[in-house]
Amino acid sequence: MTKVFIARAIPGEAARRLAEAALDVEIWPGEMPPGRDELGAMLLQCDAVMTMVTDRIDRDLMRQAPRLRVIANMAVGYDNVSPSEAAEEGVWLTNTPGVLAETTADLAFALLMDAARNLTASDRDTRAGGWKTWSPTAFLGQDIFGSTLGIVGLGEIGEAMARRAVGFSMRVLYASRTPKPELEATGLQRRTLDELLAESNFVSLHVPYNDRTRHLMAAREFALMKPGAILINTSRGGVVDQDALVEALRAGRIGGAALDVAEPEPLPPSHPLFSLPNVVITPHIGSASLATRSKMADMAATNILAVLGGHEPPNAVNRPPNPRSP
Ligand code: DGY
Repeated sequence: MTKVFIARAIPGEAARRLAEAALDVEIWPGEMPPGRDELGAMLLQCDAVMTMVTDRIDRDLMRQAPRLRVIANMAVGYDNVSPSEAAEEGVWLTNTPGVLAETTADLAFALLMDAARNLTASDRDTRAGGWKTWSPTAFLGQDIFGSTLGIVGLGEIGEAMARRAVGFSMRVLYASRTPKPELEATGLQRRTLDELLAESNFVSLHVPYNDRTRHLMAAREFALMKPGAILINTSRGGVVDQDALVEALRAGRIGGAALDVAEPEPLPPSHPLFSLPNVVITPHIGSASLATRSKMADMAATNILAVLGGHEPPNAVNRPPNPRSP
């Protein structure tokens, strides 16, 4: 029987859809992801796998899994699998574009507001008994309206972030390899990355993670940011040189950071970022709404069903010249 492995319990109807298509569906029961050996053992028996961002599949694992025809990543990012390696091994790799842009931009904007107005910091203090009186000087934050947001990477999520910022009366700059004249008509202004860093009160990262964007934000870039500016990262942890970020925060060169992603994930509780009061950290929950995660799982299932049905998957991020056949 054709077998599909789903590497974690998923929300919504996707697993049921796969089972109703007469596939043998096995779902990883653990809260933690399968380890490499466990993943390898599962892939050995599978024709398709639905992976999460936590599941790394390299060439060796693909070679050990001769039946595997499609890796359907339940994420828009796919830095856990190399598209070209998969293509060379005859395996389709798919992702989930589109459906998570608004949800992720909601989280990015929530982080911006949190860091600007000390929500988490004041909540922590209040719970610890710090609310003694109304204070004219406690938790003085930064105004969001009238300030400048710099968006680095104007893809679907960056664009959704820009719409939110315009609604909050912010000036919006963007740095992107591709100019977007249609968005400039709505008030966005294009800058080089260096110009954007020098002009922005808030800098939000929305680039994919690859060799070009690794440590895009390092000591030099933090030095270019406005004093007091806040960094928001909902893309991938590796886009930021975290040691340089800690250094910039400790030296007071920037005002704060709000991070939904880190390197590594999970970030160990002993990491210096956790000791800094002006840092907000959430556990990679950008796309975590029930509706969106259910849609992502559903898209991944659609991609699996397409490949197993002998068709090209709708959300392929590679094109194997010789796709594996059953
Ligand atoms: C993605 O889709 O790439 C997110 O990081 C996981 O939701």
